[in-house]
Amino acid sequence: MDDEQKSRQELIEELARLRRRMVELEAAEAKSREAEAALRESNERGRAIAQAAVDAIISVNVEDKIIFWNRAASEMFGYTEDEILGKPVTALIPPRYRAAHSAGVRRFRETRKPVLIGRTAELLGLRKGGIEFPLELSLSTWTARGETYFTGIIRDISDRKEAERALAERTEELESLVQTVAHDLKSPVVGIAGLVRLLKKSVSELPPEEKRDEILEQLLTTSSNMEDFLKDLLDGLRPDPVEPSREPVCLREAAEQVVSLYRSRIGERGFEFKVLCETVIPPVQADKHRIAQALDNLVGNAVKHMGNRPDPTIAIELRDNSDSVLVLVSDNGVGIPPQYWKRVFDRFFRIKKSNLDGGSGLGLSIVKRIIEGHGGRIWVESEEGKGATFCFTIPKGAAPTASLHEQ
Ligand SMILES: Nc1ncnc2c1ncn2[C@@H]1O[C@H](COP(=O)(O)OP(=O)(O)OP(=O)(O)O)[C@@H](O)[C@H]1O
Ligand SMILES: [Mg+2]
Repeated sequence: MDDEQKSRQELIEELARLRRRMVELEAAEAKSREAEAALRESNERGRAIAQAAVDAIISVNVEDKIIFWNRAASEMFGYTEDEILGKPVTALIPPRYRAAHSAGVRRFRETRKPVLIGRTAELLGLRKGGIEFPLELSLSTWTARGETYFTGIIRDISDRKEAERALAERTEELESLVQTVAHDLKSPVVGIAGLVRLLKKSVSELPPEEKRDEILEQLLTTSSNMEDFLKDLLDGLRPDPVEPSREPVCLREAAEQVVSLYRSRIGERGFEFKVLCETVIPPVQADKHRIAQALDNLVGNAVKHMGNRPDPTIAIELRDNSDSVLVLVSDNGVGIPPQYWKRVFDRFFRIKKSNLDGGSGLGLSIVKRIIEGHGGRIWVESEEGKGATFCFTIPKGAAPTASLHEQ
């Protein structure tokens, strides 16, 4: 082979090599295009999933700037994607928590120890326009090209929190109802026990039949009051509560009844009970049992907070006051200092916490509710050391009665 032939052969071989290389390169390029398309497809799929999610999905870079924001995030926080991308995530955090948030991000950058990652936390978010709302956040972190990113999945839990609040309120109402019931059943139960003791004593001492009849009559009244109270209570506990009863009530009769029960129970301890009224008192439209309950509580208080008087006297006075009847329950006991005149009506408030009378401080709050439920007012006047007078009004006409269960 001469030189010319040799170089021609080499040229042909070089060309063939180049062609092979070109085919290889074309195949590689096709592969890379495919990979790029697959990557784009996967990105789009991820984005579509994120966009369709009901929870807000937000990603931030290490500078705490928002780099991804889905549709649910727009709905939840009120910013469009264009408005929020590139903005610091603190725009979504109430101002008072921003410093703590920034400290957390700084700590993560320095220590790489995440506090929130992998947990769900309940926090407060800030909508565009400055309205705060409770949210639940699950946070994850990821790294790409040496950079760290965070992605939060956020759920608006306003409805759940509202339901929890309503449940807590209902539980509190029920607790208060149970306390009220226990409190108001105590007095008639104590009354019945007292009357039975009296009856037992009078049977052994063979007193006149008249006295026994009177005691039996009172036993009957007290237990039937209790029965009515339980009936009202059960009515009120039904989902569609029956309207509290309204009937003409003679306050004088109600006062006489309460006073006569106390006379039987503790008259022999030297207590004097009086019912005073100068004029005829017209009937009021009211709930008879609730009114009796209020009077019973006030007279019970006068007895309980009498102190050591040689002449303990308790009076219920009734006055006709054009539109309403004014009732004054007074005693000559220890009295109430002026700074407590309002507070004695608060639930669980007692002036002397250490006395051993077993009071729970609920009675006057119940009385206040009953009176105000009838559209009346209640207050106390007192001269310390000389006694107290509890005054209340009951309008003569029908006024809305708050049931025992409405607080
Ligand atoms: N007639 C009164 N004289 C002096 N202090 C009174 C009188 N009535 C009420 N108080 C004071 O007001 C407080 C609140 O009264 P309230 O009836 O609410 O509770 P309580 O009598 O202590 O307990 P409960 O009625 O629940 O058994 C009493 O603890 C007492 O200190
Ligand atoms: Mg009381």
